[in-house]
Parts: sequence; C-alpha cells; structure tokens
Amino acid sequence: MSEFDFASLHARWSFPTQVWFGAWRLSDLPAGLTEIGAKAPLLITDRGLATSSIATQALEIVKAAGMEPGFFRDVQPNPTVENVMAGREVLRKGGHDCVIALGGGSAMDAAKAVAMMAGQSRPLMDFEDVGDNFRRVQTEGMVPVIAIPTTAGTGSEFGRSSVITDTQTHRKVIIFHPEMLPELVILDPELTVGLPPTLTAATGMDALSHALEALCAPGWHPMADGLALTALKMIDGALATAYWEPENLEARSNMIVASAMACTALQKGLGAVHALAHPLGARYDAHHGMLNAVLMPHVLRFNLPAVREQMATLAHELRLEGDDPGAAVLAWLEALQARIDMPSTLSEMGVKVDDGDIPALIADALRDPCAGGNPIRLDAEGVEQILRAAR
Ligand SMILES: [Fe+2]
Repeated sequence: MSEFDFASLHARWSFPTQVWFGAWRLSDLPAGLTEIGAKAPLLITDRGLATSSIATQALEIVKAAGMEPGFFRDVQPNPTVENVMAGREVLRKGGHDCVIALGGGSAMDAAKAVAMMAGQSRPLMDFEDVGDNFRRVQTEGMVPVIAIPTTAGTGSEFGRSSVITDTQTHRKVIIFHPEMLPELVILDPELTVGLPPTLTAATGMDALSHALEALCAPGWHPMADGLALTALKMIDGALATAYWEPENLEARSNMIVASAMACTALQKGLGAVHALAHPLGARYDAHHGMLNAVLMPHVLRFNLPAVREQMATLAHELRLEGDDPGAAVLAWLEALQARIDMPSTLSEMGVKVDDGDIPALIADALRDPCAGGNPIRLDAEGVEQILRAAR
C-alpha cells in the first residue's frame, strides 16, 4: 500500500500538457472550461458511453455551471471518417468553441479529429501522418480539447494524433498535428472503476504495449525510456489488481497515470505490435488493446535479438529472475496476460485471418507509420512470420 490516500489525493501537473489528477475531478470540468477560455463546449463520446451515468454527469456538471453543452455521441469503436465529419457538422451548427472528449480511445480520437477539422476545408484524409502533410492544417480554425479518459490504456489524451478508419479502403489512418494535443486533461480514476474487467485488461495491455514498444524503439531518448520503464513497473503492480478488484482506487490511479506516461513515452516510437494491430483492427473491427495483447509476445520473441540491453534493464526493474533477461520478460508478460484472462491467439479472440487476407495485411502493416519504429527492420517475411505465429 502506498502512503497516499487515493480517495482525496489531488494533483496538478503540466507535463506534457495541463493535467488535473484526482478522484471526482470530473466535477472540476467547469473550472477547466474557464481555464481554457471556452463557453460553448461540445461533449463528444461513443455510443457505448452515451447512455452511461458518466456522460449524464458530465453534461449535468456543465449545465449546472450555466452553460448549454452540445452532445455528439455517434462515435463507433474504431471511429470512421464519417463519424468525424458528422461530429464536425454538429460542432459548426452549434457554434461550439471547444470539444470535451469523454471516453476511451475511440471517443477521444474522434473528438480530437473533430476539433482539428473544425476549421479545415480539405478532406480529413489529406492530413494523414505522411511526410509534412500536417503543415496543410489551418491551425486558426482548430478548437481546443479537454480530454477526460474513462479507460486506462489508450493514452490518446496525451497524443498529438488520432487513428481514424477509412471505410473505403479498410485502412486505419493516423491523422497528426502537434496542436491536436488536448489543452487540459482530467485524469479521474473514479471514472474507470465501472469499467468491465475485460476492458480493464485489454486497455491496460494497450498501455503496456505503448511502454514496451517505446522502450524497444531504436534511437536515443532517455526521457521516453524513463517514462516507459516506470509505466511498466506501475502496470506490473496495478493491472491485475484493477482487473480483480475493480474498486481499488490505488490500482485504478496507478493504471490511469501509467497509461498517460506510456503514451507520453511513445513519441520515441512504436513498432510491429501497433503496425499489425492497426490493419487487423480495421479489417476485423477487433479491440485494439486485445489485439496488442495477443501480438505482443510474438513480436517480442521476433525482436529479442535486437533488444537485449532493454530487456536486461527491464528485467532488473521488474526484479525478474533468471540468466536470460529476454526470456524472463517474455515469461513475465505471458504470466501477466494469463492472470487477466487475455487470449493468446487471434482466433481465440474471434479474429479469423484467412490465408487470402494475409498479403493485404502485410502490405498495410509495412506502410503503417509504426513499422519504422520496430527495432528489427520489418519486411514482408518478418510480418508474415509474426502474423502466422499469432494466428
Ligand atoms: Fe495503442
């Protein structure tokens, strides 16, 4: 147990953006709107959360402060271009001057894209994270975002990008602009207490994969490495507890902050786990975190020859035993996944990859921006090897 009382602990950080942490900080939403100078917010959430008490509470809190919030809820899991454009329509018609992004990764990604698209005349796909496409964005048309995550995993609240599915091509496209980073993030661990165990596990695995892939990404970025290592230690200590004791506020607090740290670390790079999870998620509409959970051991096994040093550091931090740090980390990862009932193959999670789908999946994985962050250079053969092992 920690020395802190997580029911009353409040904190204000400004890294990497303004962060208000604490149980029931949702009630500080009007103060947050004042802080960013907004008067006419549009609350964006997903279809699943739209009817929940969290969305109702958020709307009531804003109304009680004398504002009339708009409400856009038509965001599906793996949000689409159509979702974003519909949201922008509501934002423009309602004359909204800010977006409150409430939910998991899907709601937050869609909301950030809506806020970015508020003042753009080009189509959304023109801002795909390729080359310097982001320079096409007319920043004066963007509206600010307050992000309030209700899961501890996606880390989208600290991201400068959104993953949006192009339904025409079945591709998950990363939309990027530095100013897509939310202006204020409210980290309220209470909001994750009601998360179903499977979602706690899958989103937690997403956070873990961000930290692990960032740690393994090539390049010199000690700040990101530090965040990733601490996030991995916190997840090791908290994820199974959050899964088995959903109301444990200390575990929920540690997970929501670890997720934030892992997402901050991933600016160093992601790798094959995400490069493959994106096309698999787009094609089979499968949960991103669960895909990462299934892919991670296979990718780590593939990458081990190139990440021995990182594995030695991680094994030391996690106090793992044995002469082979890589094998010890792999065993730790698989044991943690078993403790929280994660599937170990794609077919076990209901994703049936036919032989005929493999060439397109390989092509999409190789062109995914995350592919470049893998410690071993990815080619068609390597991606196929991982995919077949995970199948
Ligand atoms: Fe992710």
